[in-house]
Amino acid sequence: MTGIFITFEGADGAGKTTQLDMLTTSFQMIGQEVIRTREPGGTVIGEAIRHLLLDPSMGSMGAETEIFLYEAARAQLVREVIKPALLKGQVVLCDRFTDSTMAYQGFGRGLERAMIDPLNDLATGGMKPHRTFLLDLDPQVGLQRLQAKRGADRLEQENLLFHQRVREGFLTIAQKDNNRIKVISADGSAVAVHQAIVESLRELSPTLPFCSTC
Ligand SMILES: Nc1ncnc2c1ncn2[C@@H]1O[C@H](COP(=O)(O)OP(=O)(O)O)[C@@H](O)[C@H]1O
Ligand SMILES: [Mg+2]
Repeated sequence: MTGIFITFEGADGAGKTTQLDMLTTSFQMIGQEVIRTREPGGTVIGEAIRHLLLDPSMGSMGAETEIFLYEAARAQLVREVIKPALLKGQVVLCDRFTDSTMAYQGFGRGLERAMIDPLNDLATGGMKPHRTFLLDLDPQVGLQRLQAKRGADRLEQENLLFHQRVREGFLTIAQKDNNRIKVISADGSAVAVHQAIVESLRELSPTLPFCSTC
């Protein structure tokens, strides 16, 4: 595979979508084709699953049901979108991936963590991102950012303790896999976060510029 697969992780409101926008522009400035996608979603089947997962009227969904839905959406996304794009040499930017499952379903909901890696591997066929950016932010700040933007959805309504467990989970995962996962404080300005991301990616794409329109 000749493409580059980059994932963005971190709480809602941390700035993942903002950074995906900026990084897409950076890659396009050097003529690199970019495929942008998100989890859960990114395929017809995946978007239908996303709708189930984020619908506030689905409040009583069990943690086991939830993890299978995430993995089902992921399996489809990897085979239908991510692998074909990487084979064509494209850059794939994905909003959330396997680390979110470990952080939310494992550390957040308390599912047995030893079971989550094999489920992730089944869904991805063992494929891992070349680089993952963990945008680390106090969950309270993230929620404030989102509430300023729009109403909270089913996952955002979870209590603060849950979000704190998820944050600690992400940091633990990042510590264990610090070659792939770069932790970036999402507290700085969007431009500062972007610059840190681009500088880190120059290892993989040496001529990558900062986004000129950001
Ligand atoms: N570094 C930042 N500092 C302050 N606000 C930000 C920053 N990055 C993004 N935002 C704002 O916070 C909100 C959530 O950002 P978003 O990119 O949608 O986060 P996510 O996709 O991680 O949920 C948006 O209104 C966005 O404009
Ligand atoms: Mg987003």
